[in-house]
Amino acid sequence: MKIINLGTSHQAAFYVATELYKQMLLNKESKLGLATGGTMIEMYKALVTLLQNNRLDVSQVETFNLDEYIGLDSDHPASYHYYMRHILFDRYPMFDTAKIHLPSGITEDADEEALRYEALLDKRGPVDIQILGIGQNGHIGFNEPGTPFDSLTHRVDLTESTIEANSRYFDNREDVPKQAISMGLQSIMKAKRIILLAFGAHKKQAIAQLASGRITPEVPATILHQHPNVEVYVDHAAMVDLNSQNVGLDESCRGDQV
Ligand code: GLP
Repeated sequence: MKIINLGTSHQAAFYVATELYKQMLLNKESKLGLATGGTMIEMYKALVTLLQNNRLDVSQVETFNLDEYIGLDSDHPASYHYYMRHILFDRYPMFDTAKIHLPSGITEDADEEALRYEALLDKRGPVDIQILGIGQNGHIGFNEPGTPFDSLTHRVDLTESTIEANSRYFDNREDVPKQAISMGLQSIMKAKRIILLAFGAHKKQAIAQLASGRITPEVPATILHQHPNVEVYVDHAAMVDLNSQNVGLDESCRGDQV
């Protein structure tokens, strides 16, 4: 794993957008694992600009999102379906809607939906690049602390801290769903390449826990140490001192080893 400070969030977002763009340029049938959240906004804006400037044909590209809230239909402005349409798919309409996949938040049986989604990932995957954000408690997707490392797509009870952190996207805290469907940690690990992005001082502790090299289900993102092809890009504010005695215990985290 490499943890690299790319400077500003703007610079990091542009770099990662370019990586996604190149992937789609080199393989018209690329499969992308997509993420939502505030961290990704600039990245998708940069990606749309690259796609528009170059008019890349993405009609064969297939996308798989990490997660969705249970109980929100796709027209709810805080749903991840809405987010993805608004930020990417409506802005660059060449994506084939039949090749855009997110778990459904409004099925009768969320457990059944989780099974369907994992089967779809197995049938159509693996994804070439999986993009990830990280929660302040170290969650990836909606895999909260304590999630088993062998978890597949599943129904999740959101923690109070995640509900609190994500309440900024809702009118009232009470409106935040209490559950979600999320790819599991093992589902995420099936990706060929993983890129995690973290911006802002509020993400620094999660990055420090990642940089420590200690692998524990209490910090779900630490499973990524077990994946052979992971890059972590941060801005100045989220960067940790990899030379400190408290973090950076894992030599492989140093950016200068790229
Ligand atoms: C949400 C999402 C994650 C995301 C994380 C960070 O809970 N399920 O996929 O990475 O929160 O979000 P943000 O980028 O808004 O800080």
